[in-house]
Amino acid sequence: MSNDSITYDPSGVLLPEHGLAFQDLTQAAPQLLAARDDVLNDAQLWSTGASVPADRRPLDAGFHLLPDRLLAEYREQGAASEIARIQATADRLAGEVDRVLVLGIGGSYMGARALMEACCHPYHNELSRAARGNRPRISYEGNNVDNDAMQGLLDLLGRGRPAQDLHERWGIAVISKSGGTLETASAFRILLEQLRASYGGNTSQLAELVVPVTGTSGKLFDLASALGCREIYHVPDGVGGRFSVLSAVGLLPAAIMGLDIVQLLEGAAAVNEQFRTAPVGKNVVLDYTGICHLMEANRGCDVRLFSTWGKRLEAVGLWYDQLLSESLGKAERGAMPLTVVNTRDLHSRGQQHQEGKRDKLVTNVTIGKGNRDPLAVGTSELNQDGLNELADKTLPDILDAATRGTNQAYHDDARPTADLHLPVLNEYTLGQLFQMLMLATVVEGRLIGINPYGQPGVEAYKKNMNAILRG
Ligand code: PA5
Repeated sequence: MSNDSITYDPSGVLLPEHGLAFQDLTQAAPQLLAARDDVLNDAQLWSTGASVPADRRPLDAGFHLLPDRLLAEYREQGAASEIARIQATADRLAGEVDRVLVLGIGGSYMGARALMEACCHPYHNELSRAARGNRPRISYEGNNVDNDAMQGLLDLLGRGRPAQDLHERWGIAVISKSGGTLETASAFRILLEQLRASYGGNTSQLAELVVPVTGTSGKLFDLASALGCREIYHVPDGVGGRFSVLSAVGLLPAAIMGLDIVQLLEGAAAVNEQFRTAPVGKNVVLDYTGICHLMEANRGCDVRLFSTWGKRLEAVGLWYDQLLSESLGKAERGAMPLTVVNTRDLHSRGQQHQEGKRDKLVTNVTIGKGNRDPLAVGTSELNQDGLNELADKTLPDILDAATRGTNQAYHDDARPTADLHLPVLNEYTLGQLFQMLMLATVVEGRLIGINPYGQPGVEAYKKNMNAILRG
């Protein structure tokens, strides 16, 4: 991996009573390497299409080699490759509309939002078209059922007024692997009817403005086919919803936002390479998995704080909340993930994390160099706030002091911490982070004997909801 590699430093968990000893990770190496072999074998088994043994089902191991496969195809096939086609669709849509509604829920939504919050301008939607790099605004729906929110969106979209009277043109990227998820399907129905009204039922226009990402069959696929959608992208076989961010599910919205999707995949491929080849102690996936697992098994730390510093990684944390909960929260087991955003949450959850139950492992997620010039506090004639003595300090200096001060306080009270560090925040490092966390989740599943794929517990509510609605 390069200088832009993410790194993991668990030295803050080396604590005599409440943490781990230096040799614990080394001693766990054989089990970690065996779990890695299981995950590599899963990917191999899946890619050969061989029959999956009953104790391995379901096996959605297709996410693992997906970045490598997409990149190889891009290099070999150029414009005919999926990456190039996604890029072309995104550019076409960006040229045609000022706003794209991304409809989806769970794994069909969280990745796109994480990408936008981490990599786009923080005020992307408020900027002029030119300042947005000629990319559309992005809004999310179909990720809940909230009548007032949907009504508000319809107000914004012009409530089916003729297209020439709309203050902005809009289109839809509708994402659902199954194609039958009610939240997304009902939002799509309502919004599609608005779009039809605006274009007087002109179906060729609709076919241009709606881009679906779905399975190769199912209700959404049928609807998209009936609409004659110009492009339909597919969630690849063997890629579960929460593992799909680096498929068209995340890549299409990312490309619409103007992000570099090749860099995202390159980052993920670099992690794959390290995962396959590096030993414990130099393998970010295995080291992170090992420490999280040992802290839970040896110290009862089954609450995992994904403690982000700055504002831009909250949605990545929420994406990870889903990944860990749905993958390992089974058979009355599985650690509880919790996304924390600092310094904001130091003023809310901080008290509990500092002095509450000793059931937490803090993983600090830090970003090295910001993308913009550091702003200094500066001097002022109005020094009632007493800040002139900090005039030379920049906002990154203050964040750094808060980070170090918090970790010192945790250390002084023997509260275990580890650091996951991104040298910069961009598509390349985010691709690494996504892939690293997905691999860590499946490695841990194999390590503790929980199948990380499938989410039987989510199906129960869907069944009940449909029974209630349909009688
Ligand atoms: O991880 C998962 O599989 C789920 O969170 C799904 O992504 C979510 O339920 C949405 O499903 P679908 O994409 O089929 O609409």
